Amino acid sequence: MPVIAVVNRKGGSGKSTLAAHLAVWCARQGHSVMLGDVDRQQSSRAWLRRRDPALPHVAPWAMDQKNVLRVPSGITHVVLDTPGGLHGFELARVVMFADAILMPVCHSVFDRESAAACHAELMALPRVASGRCRLATVGMRIDGRTRAGEVLRTWSEELGMPFLGVLRETQLYVRSLEKGLTVFDLAPSLVTADLAQWDPILQWLRPLLTAPVAANDPSPSQPQAAARVGSSRPSSLKPAQDTLIHGSRLSVLTGARPLNPAPPVARPPSLPRAVADGAQIPQFLKR
Ligand SMILES: Nc1ncnc2c1ncn2[C@@H]1O[C@H](COP(=O)(O)OP(=O)(O)OP(=O)(O)O)[C@@H](O)[C@H]1O
Ligand SMILES: [Mg+2]
Repeated sequence: MPVIAVVNRKGGSGKSTLAAHLAVWCARQGHSVMLGDVDRQQSSRAWLRRRDPALPHVAPWAMDQKNVLRVPSGITHVVLDTPGGLHGFELARVVMFADAILMPVCHSVFDRESAAACHAELMALPRVASGRCRLATVGMRIDGRTRAGEVLRTWSEELGMPFLGVLRETQLYVRSLEKGLTVFDLAPSLVTADLAQWDPILQWLRPLLTAPVAANDPSPSQPQAAARVGSSRPSSLKPAQDTLIHGSRLSVLTGARPLNPAPPVARPPSLPRAVADGAQIPQFLKR
């Protein structure tokens, strides 16, 4: 089960924006995706509550009574949004789950310095250093009239991190997120330039996201371990959240109005919606 974490210790760098978009992209590909919100601010969960339930479904965080993260039955892809300032043991715990880390980076020198420190810490983790967890950067809120994108590319490549391109600064992102949407939910004709900017990011992730994965549905013919988060990792590294949980439907604020939403993709009947929405941050990820 692919797990993508969006990480940068710098606050406001675009982590929640990137995470919400990746989750919706997965949902629109027909994947059954969970958006895990490790951030105490719970921005992603709040965004999910604003999302129209008629749109392609993104499942929120799920827990069981023991306060342990569970992957809902049927989930095939996980995106983790993380808080600013994540470091040390908490960062290592997130990395333990991740197959890929995307680091959104804004242009200023302060952003680059903070991201470089985050990169150094990530590279000290064997899972990242060995390439088992891939790492790449995305330029966020970039003004195309400036050299910011080039500067970020040079900076990123000098550090040895693939630079996947930039997302331009536009109110489309701000207004979409306010309504529980992403640019992937808008009519493509409105967001042609933005969709083109997403291409290299999705291209880099595609081998991971489109690899055949077993849904987290145990069946007599399917050993449970093969369908779980962390199943490809040594048992000493396996997180404790490998079991299944069923819950209630994602609740969505009534009255949320889509911003020219694109038609929803029909969800295969086997994909789950049943996830508890009253969950909090799991104990094992609590600060
Ligand atoms: N491409 C963009 N164009 C314009 N605004 C953007 C863009 N991407 C993100 N933003 C805005 O930048 C702000 C910060 O983004 P976001 O909340 O995703 O950052 P974050 O890293 O999750 O922050 P935190 O560290 O506080 O969790 C938000 O107001 C968001 O709407
Ligand atoms: Mg955030």
